[in-house]
Amino acid sequence: MTSHASSTQTIPEVSAIPRHVAIVMDGNGRWASKRLMPRVAGHSEGLGAVRKIVEECRKLGVQYLTVFAFSSENWRRPPEEVGFLMKLFLKSLKGEVSRLAENDISLRLIGDLSRFDSAIQEMAQFSEEKTAGCKGLTFTIAANYGGRWDILQAMRQCLANNPGLQPEQVTEDLLTSYLSMAYAPEPDLFIRTGGEQRVSNFLLWQLAYTELYFTDVLWPDFDVAHLHRAFDWFSQRERRFGRTSAQLASAGADNPV
Ligand code: FPP
Repeated sequence: MTSHASSTQTIPEVSAIPRHVAIVMDGNGRWASKRLMPRVAGHSEGLGAVRKIVEECRKLGVQYLTVFAFSSENWRRPPEEVGFLMKLFLKSLKGEVSRLAENDISLRLIGDLSRFDSAIQEMAQFSEEKTAGCKGLTFTIAANYGGRWDILQAMRQCLANNPGLQPEQVTEDLLTSYLSMAYAPEPDLFIRTGGEQRVSNFLLWQLAYTELYFTDVLWPDFDVAHLHRAFDWFSQRERRFGRTSAQLASAGADNPV
C-alpha cells in the first residue's frame, strides 16, 4: 500500500518549493529546425537542459523530479528519430549514472521498458540499483510511458494479486499502490515547455490537483532562470484542493476534506 496520501482523499502538505515537479520537455525538434539543424540535434541539446534542471532541483530541495522522455505514442515518429532517441537514452544512462550517484540522486524509470532492447533494459536496471540508496532527489525518467497504460497495468496487477476482489474493495489507495509512481507523492507542479497546453497522456491519475504551468520556451532553451520563474509562479498559487479561499484562510493546510 502506498504511503503517499491521495489529493482527493486527504489535503497534502503545501510548500513554496514544490516537492514533486513533473515536466513535459517539448520543443526539441522546433529548436533544431529554427537553426536549420536536423530534429535530433534538438534532442541532444535537450539532454543538456535536463542536466541543468536536475542539478538545480537538487539544490533547491525538490524531492522528486519526473521527466517525460518518451511517450507510448512516440513510436509513431520516423524510425530514424526513434532510433536516435534510443541511442541517446542509452548513452545518457551510461554517462550520467556515476554523476547522479555522487550527487546523491536516485534514478527511477517508469513505463513499459519491455519494448526497449535488452541493452537499455539492463542499463536501466543497473542505474536504478547503483543509485538506489541515494536520498537527495529522486529523478524519474518516464520512457514508453502513458498515463492510461499506467492505470490499466495497475488495475491488472491489482486484480492478479487479489483474487476474488469485490468491486467495493477497490479503493483509490489500493489502486494507487499499483501505479508505477507509487513511491512518490503526486506532482505539485507540472511544467510543459514548447507552447502547447496539454497533458499528453502523462501522469493522468496523479495530476488531479497539480498546478499546471505552460511556457512557450523550447525545451533546449529552458534554463535555471526559467525554472525559477515557474517556481515563483507556483509559490503564488492558492492551493485549495476543493475548498473555498475563506476556508483556506482559517484552516491549517493539512486538514482532512
Ligand atoms: C519532445 O520534443 C521531446 C522528446 C520526445 C524527447 C525528449 C528527450 C530528451 C530531452 C533527451 C533525453 C532525455 C533523457 C532524460 C535521457 P519534440 O521532438 O516533440 O519537439 P517538437 O514539438 O518541437 O517537434
